[in-house]
Amino acid sequence: MARTPTFAVIADLHGNLPATEAVLADLAHIQPDRVIVGGDLVNRGPQSRAVVERIAPLGWEAISGNHDTWFVSLWRGAGLPDDWETPWWTPARLAVADLTPENVAWLESLPFSQRVELPGAEPALVVHGSPRDNREGMGRMRSDEQIREALADVEEKMVIGAHIHYPYEREVDGTRVVVIGAVGCPFNRDINAQYGLFTWDGAQWTCEHRSVPYDHEPVYAAWRDNGYFDDGSLVSALMLLEYQTARTHYVPFWEWAMTRGLPLTFESYPAFARERGEPELIETIREMLAGGASRSAERAIL
Ligand SMILES: [Fe+2]
Ligand SMILES: [Fe+2]
Repeated sequence: MARTPTFAVIADLHGNLPATEAVLADLAHIQPDRVIVGGDLVNRGPQSRAVVERIAPLGWEAISGNHDTWFVSLWRGAGLPDDWETPWWTPARLAVADLTPENVAWLESLPFSQRVELPGAEPALVVHGSPRDNREGMGRMRSDEQIREALADVEEKMVIGAHIHYPYEREVDGTRVVVIGAVGCPFNRDINAQYGLFTWDGAQWTCEHRSVPYDHEPVYAAWRDNGYFDDGSLVSALMLLEYQTARTHYVPFWEWAMTRGLPLTFESYPAFARERGEPELIETIREMLAGGASRSAERAIL
């Protein structure tokens, strides 16, 4: 009897090597027919180069996420923000500087999308964001009309995306859209490493949203060991907090401060945290900036 077709899509690894290793171990056990890497290997976490150098030699099909595309530009000195040398950009600046020419050449070689064809099953299309833009998610924030426009040139009946960092499924005009969760930086209040495992059931692809536990302490320690706190970067603290809580903190603070014309520094943070109803996080962030990051543990603030 023919083997049931299976494939996995892993994405949003975001510089988190322990999460990546946990997913690779899970995949080694499951042995799907194919594994597609859905982009965003770099940025946010403190181990971007290590993740690229772990994944690239596997020879799996991979596509470019918006962070991968962006890092290639930054590495070449194109499109650098005016305040690139300030602590606001410390995580990105350190990660970009750490990439080798070989890393960048590999990232630059990645295509925008990947079609998955397995014998006996319908083809599926893997993208990072949407089929028209790797910065456009297909999650609950998008209307059916927006998804319809994004799918306009797609012939596959199954489209798989990532980018939004939480699992989400929908159907628009007969096309199934499955968004998988993040390996390295989930935003669905589940701190495990997440990915999608697809199985052909004879009529359609079904997705199991896998959630793999792992020891987070080594990646938390890497924040300090890799110098991400050396200049007191608030962004480093906010991103570490995202990994500890599986919730978004960085973009909401940035948007809040920008609309008020406030500095992107810790002095602006307490008012934001109080307004967001999370005053306890003020001390958490203060501790991180004062040197507490390496002794961090998962926090009961979910
Ligand atoms: Fe991402
Ligand atoms: Fe992304």
